[in-house]
Amino acid sequence: MQVQIDVNGESFTEDVPGRLLLVHYLRETRGLKATNIGCDTTSCGACTVLLDGEAVKSCTVLAAQADGRAVTTLEGLSGEDGELHPVPAAFRAEHGLQCGFCTPGMVMASVSLLADNPNPTEEEVREGLEGNFCRCTGYHNIVRAVLAAAPGASS
Ligand code: FES
Ligand code: FES
Repeated sequence: MQVQIDVNGESFTEDVPGRLLLVHYLRETRGLKATNIGCDTTSCGACTVLLDGEAVKSCTVLAAQADGRAVTTLEGLSGEDGELHPVPAAFRAEHGLQCGFCTPGMVMASVSLLADNPNPTEEEVREGLEGNFCRCTGYHNIVRAVLAAAPGASS
């Protein structure tokens, strides 16, 4: 079927198999490899991207379901001058990653969380990220990073 999908601000129209998952569309068709595949069963959150600004697990969404919609991946967060978006910048500053496998999904889930709640409490961050698993960090620095990146935070 033919789909038109806006990916990181660029529009693409092409034929895709009806059963193609969005994560495979992004990684294989678009060549955007930042979005990882962990479990492939909607559990780990490694594949999280934004669909019209909302965090979704792209291993659970068909490319066809993104027809006429806008997808943002980690690659799409960089400005044209390559400047780091505040959320990945905070992950770097607060050491919110170790192996980095969960990080793209964690960052995209955090961007969505902060868009909905610009000044979350620690508990709200932990709750908001409960669909994203990290096997390395113990989550503390990830939570610190999200709190540091919160646009409503006082410092
Ligand atoms: S790969 Fe999609 S939730 Fe784990
Ligand atoms: S940093 Fe390794 S899984 Fe999160």
